[in-house]
Amino acid sequence: MSDTRTEHVWVLYGSQTGNSEQAAEDFSKEIVETFDSSYFEDLGLEPVRVETTCLQLDDFLEYRHAAFSKTMVIFVSSYGVGQAPLGSPKFRSFAEELLALADGGAEGAGSLLKGLTYAICGLGDSGYTTYLVNPTTINKALAAAGATRIGEMGKADAKQIGEDSQANVIARWKKELLVPLARSLAAAADDASEESADTVKQMQACSIPIVMKIDPDYTPPKEFGGRSGGAIPMNLFLVAVIVAVIAALFVTGKIEAP
Ligand SMILES: Cc1cc2nc3c(=O)[nH]c(=O)nc-3n(C[C@H](O)[C@H](O)[C@H](O)COP(=O)(O)O)c2cc1C
Repeated sequence: MSDTRTEHVWVLYGSQTGNSEQAAEDFSKEIVETFDSSYFEDLGLEPVRVETTCLQLDDFLEYRHAAFSKTMVIFVSSYGVGQAPLGSPKFRSFAEELLALADGGAEGAGSLLKGLTYAICGLGDSGYTTYLVNPTTINKALAAAGATRIGEMGKADAKQIGEDSQANVIARWKKELLVPLARSLAAAADDASEESADTVKQMQACSIPIVMKIDPDYTPPKEFGGRSGGAIPMNLFLVAVIVAVIAALFVTGKIEAP
């Protein structure tokens, strides 16, 4: 299998008490274990080597600088009063910015994340009037920005017991996602065009200004306008050189004070 048939999947989570985190970590491993060559061949597809990275939604924005791949799977709960749980308030703000851009009819808002395929499983408790508000907002925002969802948004309710317990719903949702996810990954690997690689970079380029807006302390990578790891900028360096030369000429008496 050639390297071009490797696809990366971000498995991201926001989690207050560990339920979404556990689901994400498990699924991140399960995908890699399940998607061997024979899984794709049995579906009549050319095999894909699948790599996953599991981390918090905010870490994806902040430390990985929104470096999208074509596929993302999200497990996230609601906390407080329909708010984002730990590790995801920035992603919630990011989602709200995407929605505001789309609702305001901003040019290109509907295609900011075109080329991204995502799946989302929401965790919540139907005892709250704000049931699943956070995952629903994220789901709406990604769709409004042009991303394509595979499968339905999972609705894993902590209030249910038995057949529809939260754990059972998550397990069913993951199982039902496998075939569409494999098909989507195979299609992504089939499209190894330059245009497709550009699309991924474009998603990052569109997202970074939004992250800068929601987090004024965020420093983007140099190629997106950030500072270069502590080095002196070239213009300051030149000014320092000129000042040093003038001072040397002055001290050696080659020039005199007026
Ligand atoms: C203080 C508190 C507030 C919560 N607020 C909401 C809420 O607004 N909406 C909702 O659907 N679920 C709410 N839940 C339920 C959690 O989302 C649910 O327990 C979920 O399984 C937590 O998953 P996590 O561990 O990944 O955060 C709340 C739970 C607690 C304890």
